Amino acid sequence: MSDLTPTRTADLVDVRGLVKTFPQRNAWGRTTGTTRAVDGIDLTIRRGETLALVGESGSGKSTLGRCILQMDEPTSGTVTYEGVDLTALPRAKRAPYHRSMQVIFQDPFSSLNPHRTALQNVMEPLTVLAPDSDPRPRAIEALAAVGIDGDAVNRRPRAFSGGQRQRIVIARAIAVRPGFVVCDEPLSALDMSIQAQVTDLLLRLQRELELTYLFISHDLSVVREIATRTAVMNRGRIVELGPTAEVFASPHHPYTRHLLDAALSTDPAQARRRLERISARPEPVGLEPDGTALAEVTPGHFVLR
Ligand SMILES: Nc1ncnc2c1ncn2[C@@H]1O[C@H](COP(=O)(O)OP(=O)(O)OP(=O)(O)O)[C@@H](O)[C@H]1O
Ligand SMILES: [Mg+2]
Repeated sequence: MSDLTPTRTADLVDVRGLVKTFPQRNAWGRTTGTTRAVDGIDLTIRRGETLALVGESGSGKSTLGRCILQMDEPTSGTVTYEGVDLTALPRAKRAPYHRSMQVIFQDPFSSLNPHRTALQNVMEPLTVLAPDSDPRPRAIEALAAVGIDGDAVNRRPRAFSGGQRQRIVIARAIAVRPGFVVCDEPLSALDMSIQAQVTDLLLRLQRELELTYLFISHDLSVVREIATRTAVMNRGRIVELGPTAEVFASPHHPYTRHLLDAALSTDPAQARRRLERISARPEPVGLEPDGTALAEVTPGHFVLR
C-alpha cells in the first residue's frame, strides 16, 4: 500500500505529543523568549463527529487547528490523517490532504478575494487542487448547496450581506469535497439572527457530505447544541475532553467550571463580553493546568490530572 492510500479508520485525525512554539518578541522586534502556543497535545477526532474546541482567547485553539491542517509546521509531535502521518510526508506529497482538509475562518471578508465574483472565488481552489476537472459546474453546485444561485454567483463579495459572504466561504470549502473542516469561529462575525441559519447550514452539509468538524468557538451555547464532544483548552493544553452533554453537566477541571460559569449566562451577548474580559487577563490566578496527563474519569470523559 502506498503512503497516500487512505485507510478507513474510526479516528480520522490523530494528534500525538503536538507542540508549537513561537518566538516572543518585544516592541523592538527582539526575541525575548518563546510562547508554547500548543504544549503537548494528544487528541483524536472521530469520523463524522463535531469536536468542539473551547477556551479563552490565546489558549492555542487556532494554532492547534492550523497545525492539524499543516498551515503551521508543528515544532514537534505528529498529526495523522486517515492513517497517514502528515508530519512525516514531504511537502510535495501533501497536496491530497490540502484538498481533503479545509478551513472556514471567522471573517468572510478577508477570506474572499474582493475583486473576484462569488463564482470565481469558489472556482479558485478547484483550479489549484483539482486541475483535471472543469471547476465551473462544481463551483455552481457548491454555491447552490449554500443557497446562492442564479445571477447572484456573478456578484462580488461586497454585494452580499455578512451571512451570505460566509456562505460563499463555506461553498469554497466544500467545493473541493473535503472530509474534514476546521471551523474557526465561523459564526462570531455574524449577526445573532444569521448565526442560527449558518449553524443549520453547517449541520446540513455535515450530514449530506459526511463531514467531520473541528469546531472552534467562544459561544458555548452553540457548542452545547451541536458538538458531539468538547475539548477544553487552557494555555496550550487540553484540560478536559468528553461527550459535550457530560462536560457541560459535570465539569471536573476547575478551569472548565470557570469557563462555564463565565459563559453560560442567560444573555449570550453579555456572556461573550464576560468571556472576553476574562480573556484579557493574562494569567487566571489559581487555574494553572495542574496535571501532566489526561485521566479517564468516566468512559470517554478525560481530565488533566
Ligand atoms: N504567528 C504567531 N506568532 C507569534 N505568536 C503567535 C502566533 N500565532 C499565535 N501566537 C501566540 O500563540 C498563543 C495562542 O494563540 P491562538 O491564536 O492559537 O489562540 P486562540 O485560542 O485561537 O485565541 P482566540 O480565541 O483569541 O482566537 C497566543 O499567545 C498567541 O499570541
Ligand atoms: Mg483563534
